[in-house]
Amino acid sequence: MSINPNDVPKVTLANGMVVPTMGMGTFGSDRFTPEEVSTAVAGALRSGYRLFDCASVYGNEDLIGKVFEDAFTEGVVKREDIFVMTKVWNDMHRDVRKSCLKSIADLKCDYIDIYYIHWPFPNYHAPFCSVDARNPDSKPFSVEEFLDTYRQIEELVDEGLVKAIGISNMTIPKLEAVLDQLRIPPVVHEMEIHPCFQQQELFDYCVAHHIQPVGFMPVGSPQRPERDIMPEDVADIEQPEMAAIAKAHGIHPAVVALKWAVQRGEIVIPFSTKEKNYISNLRSTLEDPLTEEEMKLISTLEKGNRLVKGHVFLWEGAKDWHDLWDEDGFIVK
Ligand SMILES: NC(=O)c1ccc[n+]([C@@H]2O[C@H](COP(=O)([O-])OP(=O)(O)OC[C@H]3O[C@@H](n4cnc5c(N)ncnc54)[C@H](OP(=O)(O)O)[C@@H]3O)[C@@H](O)[C@H]2O)c1
Repeated sequence: MSINPNDVPKVTLANGMVVPTMGMGTFGSDRFTPEEVSTAVAGALRSGYRLFDCASVYGNEDLIGKVFEDAFTEGVVKREDIFVMTKVWNDMHRDVRKSCLKSIADLKCDYIDIYYIHWPFPNYHAPFCSVDARNPDSKPFSVEEFLDTYRQIEELVDEGLVKAIGISNMTIPKLEAVLDQLRIPPVVHEMEIHPCFQQQELFDYCVAHHIQPVGFMPVGSPQRPERDIMPEDVADIEQPEMAAIAKAHGIHPAVVALKWAVQRGEIVIPFSTKEKNYISNLRSTLEDPLTEEEMKLISTLEKGNRLVKGHVFLWEGAKDWHDLWDEDGFIVK
């Protein structure tokens, strides 16, 4: 049964844009084909989703664009009824306009609502690569290069091709190094967040700087790519506390994770190919909130369980994946 998009709670971003608190992810995790993902997007659109998190590297924007085009033609939605987010991939940082124009053409959407820098460095990895893949051209973060990439997006805003700018996979030291040099501030930060990896300090930093956190992998991405599965990883939705709360509400623990995230103040972008699941996810924003005690209990589940460690982005001379995340409070070079 579909949900009235008007009923889905919204957040107002720092630039005044009003966005639903839940959108549909579109990364097939190297497991789902572009056809399967775009079929899910079509179903999600029919079910009441109005926010879609895309990326050129997901390799499915052309098929998702066909879904949007059909929806516009059939009068299901108008362009301005949906929020399309997409991202420039790491190998296009020196030609952002070209990448953005291709996404706009593929997605058949005239303009992008929020355009992200997917990763804050140009280190390329191919889709489907393994955890051992390394690109000899990979480099540590550079303030100058990041600013150059960002300024290209600011120009796209000036041109009206992009409405707002997003950043993704940043750290506090990197944000500190660039924020006061940006002419058009970013309105969202797409970052990994799930119950056992809450990134509270970064979350608070973003909120304090009027940057809305968008939580990716909000369910703990049980079907993430092989390269992102490590023996030490924890399954968020298998935590006994999550199971107990789910039982009390008669819902799946995945839905508990989403309720927690939205009530905490995030926009979430869960992915599912199953209609039953993506509908219950969107419905979870409307009814039966978690209690204060349940919210507190989930806040104790932090386990430092980063799932996208980023091995494939490491540069020559980097120690290990921790170097990507500036854990000691300075940018690792
Ligand atoms: N910016 C970035 O660098 C970045 C990185 C990663 C991801 N993302 C974005 O974040 C989105 C979400 O991340 P993700 O897809 O990796 O992980 P996720 O949304 O945490 O997890 C998706 C998984 O959860 C399951 N699931 C969803 N709802 C469920 C429900 N109600 N009951 C039971 N199982 C449920 C799905 O299985 P079923 O299909 O069986 O329902 C699927 O296996 C991506 O699609 C992408 O758009 C961005």
